[in-house]
Order: sequence, then C-alpha cells, then structure tokens
Amino acid sequence: MKNDAVNFDARVADTRATLERLARDFSPAVFASSLAAEDMVITDMILRAQLPIAIFSLETGRLHAETLAVLDKVREVYGYDIMLYRPQADAIDAYVAQNGLNAFYDSVEMRRECCRIRKVEPLGRALAGNKAWITGQRRAQSSTRAELAVQEEDAAHGMTKFNPLADWSEEDVWNYLRANNVPYNALHDQGFPSIGCEPCTRAVEPGQDVRAGRWWWENPESKECGLHVVDGRLIRIKPVAA
Ligand code: ADX
Ligand code: SF4
Repeated sequence: MKNDAVNFDARVADTRATLERLARDFSPAVFASSLAAEDMVITDMILRAQLPIAIFSLETGRLHAETLAVLDKVREVYGYDIMLYRPQADAIDAYVAQNGLNAFYDSVEMRRECCRIRKVEPLGRALAGNKAWITGQRRAQSSTRAELAVQEEDAAHGMTKFNPLADWSEEDVWNYLRANNVPYNALHDQGFPSIGCEPCTRAVEPGQDVRAGRWWWENPESKECGLHVVDGRLIRIKPVAA
C-alpha cells in the first residue's frame, strides 16, 4: 500500500516533468482532449502550472450532452476555453446522404469512414503547425495500446507525440482526480469508464474491460478511431529523462 502511494507520487512527478519539458523543448505543442477522465488529469496539470500548451477537443457532432458539459466545467473552474474543431459540413452531408446517419453500425469500413470525417480530418487541422501533440492514452486501456511509449515520433503528422499517462493505471487516474478535486464527465459515474461519441459508446458491467463499451459490436483489434493508428507504423522511442 505504502509502495503504491510512493509509485503514484513518482508517476505524478514524472508526468508533470514530461509536460514541462515538452512545453519548453517542443513549442508549440497542443493537447488533444476527449474531455474524459485521463484527459482531465492532463488538463489540470497544464492549467494549474499555466504551461504554454493549447488544449483542443474534436467536437464530432455526436458527443453526449454530459461530455459537452465538461467544456463549461473547465471554463468555470480554470477560466479556460477549450478550442473546438468540427468536421466539415459538406463531408458529413455527403456521408449521411449516401449511407444514412448511423451507417457506422454496418461495417468496420463505414465506421472508419465516419471517424475519418468526424475526427481524423479535423485532427489534421488542429495539429497543423505544431511541433508536438499530447494524448491521454494509457497502455492498460487495450491490446492495441500495449506498446505505447511516453514519447513517439508520429510520422503521419510529422511531429512528436507524447502519451504522458502511458504507464498510469485507471486507479492512478481516479486518485489524481479526487485528490485534486478535478471536474470530470458525469457519465463516468454511470458505468462509462471510456467515452467517445454517443452512438458508439455504452455503459459496461463492473469488471468488464474498460473499452468494452466502445464500438462494442466490433473485435477488440479494430477498436481504434484512426487518431492513433498510422498504417501500423508508429516509431516507438524510449522515454527521455526530464
Ligand atoms: S479513441 O479510440 O477515441 O482514440 P480514447 O477515447 O481512448 O480513444 O482517447 C484516447 C486519446 O485520444 C485521448 O486521451 C485524447 O488525447 C484523444 N482523443 C480521443 N477523442 C478525442 C476527441 N474527441 N477530441 C480530442 N482528442 C481526442
Ligand atoms: Fe462516427 Fe462513431 Fe466514429 Fe463518432 S465514434 S466519429 S459517431 S463512427
């Protein structure tokens, strides 16, 4: 128990150091927030320390009201407006006209195309002109993230990518949020450990995998939205000491 507390404090200190180092050495850097629990840890660290890292969210047009409410909570608590990137209306209209509003249930291809239009293309715009971007991914979240490093070269976007919470557990995330009184998405208290778009996320039973409620009709191996898979060719490099 005591060791856990020591490890937790060390992880928090390491994560703060990573954020300070990248704000200094990889400017301009941006943080992609899905407004879920992990991302609130990073948001709190950035805003408390007033690090020069802009925070943005991809507003897909299919988010839960509870997720959008986090934008207001962040404004209230920190006085900060998270920047929103939205999909291109023409692309949405064409997809819906051709396939219907909810075609993502029909096949992995249809699902990936919706994610491409609503998330991946806007992500490209959000990242343009930056030296690094930050995500809230953790290794323990899924089989597709088992190899995640704190620092990677993201060849597709031509910049460095940081996953400062790579070695955090879900318990670490909640310890941090509670200890620091950080606001969070109300859906987390209703059985949603992982939150994406409303039609593609559902609650899980206690003990189920944390991402079991994401794209629940697909195999675990296909459950990535395209934000983090780059032809399966991300170059992993070892975390560098602060
Ligand atoms: S994903 O499958 O949707 O990519 P997940 O919800 O586990 O996965 O999010 C992982 C990370 O991707 C988040 O910590 C965040 O950095 C980024 N991310 C996911 N969705 C969004 C979003 N809507 N806006 C901004 N960043 C996002
Ligand atoms: Fe579309 Fe679902 Fe992907 Fe959201 S998560 S962009 S609704 S397929």
